[in-house]
Amino acid sequence: MHKEQRQSRRFSRPPRLRRVRTPLSLQRGRACRRNAKRRSCSNVRTLGVAGVSERPEPGPGWLLPAVLGERVLVRAPAVGDESALVEMSIDPEVRRYIGGPVDQPTAEGRAARKAVDPRWGEFVIVDRVSDTVVGSGSLARKRGPWEVSYQLRRAWWGRGMAGEALSLIRDWFFTHMREDLLIATTQRVNVASRRLLERAGATHASTFEQYGLAQERYEFHRATQPPT
Ligand SMILES: CC(C)(COP(=O)(O)OP(=O)(O)OC[C@H]1O[C@@H](n2cnc3c(N)ncnc32)[C@H](O)[C@@H]1OP(=O)(O)O)[C@@H](O)C(=O)NCCC(=O)NCCS
Repeated sequence: MHKEQRQSRRFSRPPRLRRVRTPLSLQRGRACRRNAKRRSCSNVRTLGVAGVSERPEPGPGWLLPAVLGERVLVRAPAVGDESALVEMSIDPEVRRYIGGPVDQPTAEGRAARKAVDPRWGEFVIVDRVSDTVVGSGSLARKRGPWEVSYQLRRAWWGRGMAGEALSLIRDWFFTHMREDLLIATTQRVNVASRRLLERAGATHASTFEQYGLAQERYEFHRATQPPT
């Protein structure tokens, strides 16, 4: 496939965007178009409101079609996924290194919103054999660069499923976004998560402190990813 064809396939389906007509967003939009050839902007237009984290809108392009791996598929959350999402949110073991469990009503409220009105970047991990939701995660801009996060239901730990899902999301990201960097952060003591990231090809970039705990930042770089 020619380079031009690859480029056009990569950028042909940006997410649908909410129109926010603030002077700042318009300025950013122009700057983004000006810089597009230099690949310094995401193909995701953002709300661009000062003080608000930049989030793309949900759109028909997000994980449509679902991304298929050998054993798992990754897709946007949908109605029917609620119980699996609730189970993870209230499980103290699953939430041990990611903020602790939430109470049942909060978990149910979040799961219902996610299933009915998924945001761009939210995904679930499905075991292809049993068609069971085994985990979930997100692509989001929590602290600047795009960041991937993930969790599995406890019964599905230790089978390499999160690793496969992470690789699928990483490849989707570098295929469909103009970004060169994808990060993941994890508590230093979360050995399973750190091993998972290292096995998926992320490099350890830095250590920082958050909530009084040592956190590790890992990075995936486009330039070092295997061609998809
Ligand atoms: C982190 C998590 C997604 C890993 O998923 P998983 O499918 O069980 O991962 P794997 O089975 O591929 O194991 C990953 C690696 O960690 C190791 N590992 C697993 N549990 C471990 C533990 N308790 N202590 C040390 N190492 C562990 C595995 O041996 C494997 O290492 P290897 O590649 O050298 O064999 C899963 O444990 C989870 O959902 N945890 C709770 C949520 C969470 O912490 N998410 C990460 C947020 S940053």
